[in-house]
Amino acid sequence: MTPLRWPATDPVAGRVRLRAFRDTDLPMVLDLATDPYVPRISTLPADADEAAALAYIGRQHGRLAEGRGFSFCVALTDDSAAVGTAGLWVDDLGHGRFRGGYTIAPGRRGHGLAGDALRALTAFAWTLEVAHRVELYVEPWNVASLRTAERAGYVCEGLLRDHHRIGGAWCDMVLLAALRPVSGG
Ligand SMILES: CC(C)(COP(=O)(O)OP(=O)(O)OC[C@H]1O[C@@H](n2cnc3c(N)ncnc32)[C@H](O)[C@@H]1OP(=O)(O)O)[C@@H](O)C(=O)NCCC(=O)NCCS
Repeated sequence: MTPLRWPATDPVAGRVRLRAFRDTDLPMVLDLATDPYVPRISTLPADADEAAALAYIGRQHGRLAEGRGFSFCVALTDDSAAVGTAGLWVDDLGHGRFRGGYTIAPGRRGHGLAGDALRALTAFAWTLEVAHRVELYVEPWNVASLRTAERAGYVCEGLLRDHHRIGGAWCDMVLLAALRPVSGG
């Protein structure tokens, strides 16, 4: 039985909130599917058509019940428009370990929205009693993602050689992590 519950209120940071996906997020998902990298690291097919994009949205609703974790749509706080995705994925509950992930649709990039989304995702993680550590795995060339992680307070812990297989090739990964803040004081 998963001890994880969907948040009663949307996690918010800066200009974004994390909410459940809606079918009306379709234009954002179609935009995301045009990115050369996102389909390589997710179940979103490259250049997805409407049916494939809606199927992707539908799959996200099942992730928590499957015990996989939280799949959020990143939306603007002012008009709730979808701008990307953020996932908090179960790695090892026994050791309090989760994995974070984020994307911003190509048409919405360049404004640091992933940083806001990651801050909201990380703060949400600390509302989960079981969570102690959130890890990010980032390819060394992905400067925007590395910068996003560091700006959100993640600390680089090293380079993992041939750690992920992406698109049929072994890829080195930079490991970054955030630890549950020490409470009290
Ligand atoms: C990574 C990603 C989420 C960042 O989206 P974003 O919030 O729009 O990112 P921005 O373009 O605002 O850039 C974030 C930071 O990186 C910096 N940056 C971006 N591209 C850069 C580059 N080529 N060289 C140096 N710095 C760069 C920006 O200046 C900004 O830094 P700042 O906060 O100091 O101003 C987005 O590029 C994306 O969705 N990429 C594909 C999916 C992906 O790689 N996800 C992460 C997997 S680990």
